[in-house]
Amino acid sequence: MVKIDECLLRACILIPFLTLSTAVDTIVANQTIKDGETIVSAGDNFELGFFSPLNSSNRYLGIWYKRISTGTVVWVSNKDSPLNDTSGVFKLSGDGSLLVYSGDNTVIWSSNLTGFSRKLNPVAQLLDTGILVVRDPRSIGQENIIWQSNPSYDACVRNGICGPYGTCNSNASPVCSCLAGFEPRKPKQWNIADWSGGCIRKIPLSCGVSDGFLKMSSMKFPGTRFSWYDLSMTLGECLTVCQRNCSCMAYANFDIATGCLLWFGDLQDMRVTSGGRDIYVRLGASELTGKERP
Ligand SMILES: *[C@@H]1O[C@H](CO)[C@@H](O)[C@H](O)[C@H]1NC(C)=O
Ligand SMILES: *[C@@H]1O[C@H](CO)[C@@H](O)[C@H](O)[C@H]1NC(C)=O
Ligand SMILES: *[C@@H]1O[C@H](CO)[C@@H](O)[C@H](O)[C@H]1NC(C)=O
Ligand SMILES: *[C@@H]1O[C@H](CO)[C@@H](O)[C@H](O)[C@H]1NC(C)=O
Ligand SMILES: *[C@@H]1O[C@H](CO)[C@@H](O)[C@H](O)[C@H]1NC(C)=O
Repeated sequence: MVKIDECLLRACILIPFLTLSTAVDTIVANQTIKDGETIVSAGDNFELGFFSPLNSSNRYLGIWYKRISTGTVVWVSNKDSPLNDTSGVFKLSGDGSLLVYSGDNTVIWSSNLTGFSRKLNPVAQLLDTGILVVRDPRSIGQENIIWQSNPSYDACVRNGICGPYGTCNSNASPVCSCLAGFEPRKPKQWNIADWSGGCIRKIPLSCGVSDGFLKMSSMKFPGTRFSWYDLSMTLGECLTVCQRNCSCMAYANFDIATGCLLWFGDLQDMRVTSGGRDIYVRLGASELTGKERP
């Protein structure tokens, strides 16, 4: 059996049985979703239904990215009690609980609402952020949310998810964006949440001293496969060395405030993160007008 936690972190092939495609993002009280049926968020980013992880025949009720062909699961309900066949049924009960039943009508998972017994007409809705919420339509605003799935995932864990010159921020929606001065290489794919093509420069490099470097803060550094470092150089010396070589795409201090780290070739796997550092990314001169230079 493939561990479902691995599935949450890595790409898993989803094997939905016959996919009954509906443009519906909501279910109402007493409505069910059988194995093979799904609901889809309004912007088409996420899908909810039963799936099997790669190399496994177990069935789980969960939410995954709809647009990524290798299906990345972002939430799973019955993690600890997988179904062994396709008899599962997902249901919103009249009191607002979400339930997963096995074929013999046993509840194998419930959302376990505590202290909630008012009679209402709840609805469950899959949001375009990948979160499933149960709402009481009679109340207004945040108060009408009586339960929500916990997005226990970090989309940025998938290396390369944002492509070259893309940055990943798991707190943002969408999680990928292009570095300043760059735009999506394949805008159509980018706009449907397939970011793997990455980004390209809006303005080509001149490869001379007119190229500049834009400071980007709170960044997890790009992959260092094609990097070079020197522990004794200052940041100013680092800039000079990088500027002289047109394959040098970025530089940074090696340690917090000392040394020099250079990147040659495309910048991959950059992330915005609270513990991140400053990095200076090479841009054509006209991209830098009025922007911060080192
Ligand atoms: C799935 O099975 C194939 C073939 O047996 C194997 O090569 C692959 O490594 C397996 N993948 C996982 C994630 O276990
Ligand atoms: C499938 O699970 C049910 C209980 O949920 C169990 O009774 C049954 O024996 C299992 N079948 C197989 C083939 O493991
Ligand atoms: C849901 O089903 C229960 C039991 O059959 C029924 O009492 C309740 O009125 C139904 N709720 C809705 C909103 O249809
Ligand atoms: C629901 O939560 C309560 C308190 O956290 C726990 O004691 C109970 O076992 C849970 N029930 C289910 C069906 O998970
Ligand atoms: C630029 O740096 C790369 C990688 O270190 C090196 O292979 C190349 O020869 C350098 N080019 C120049 C003009 O110095």
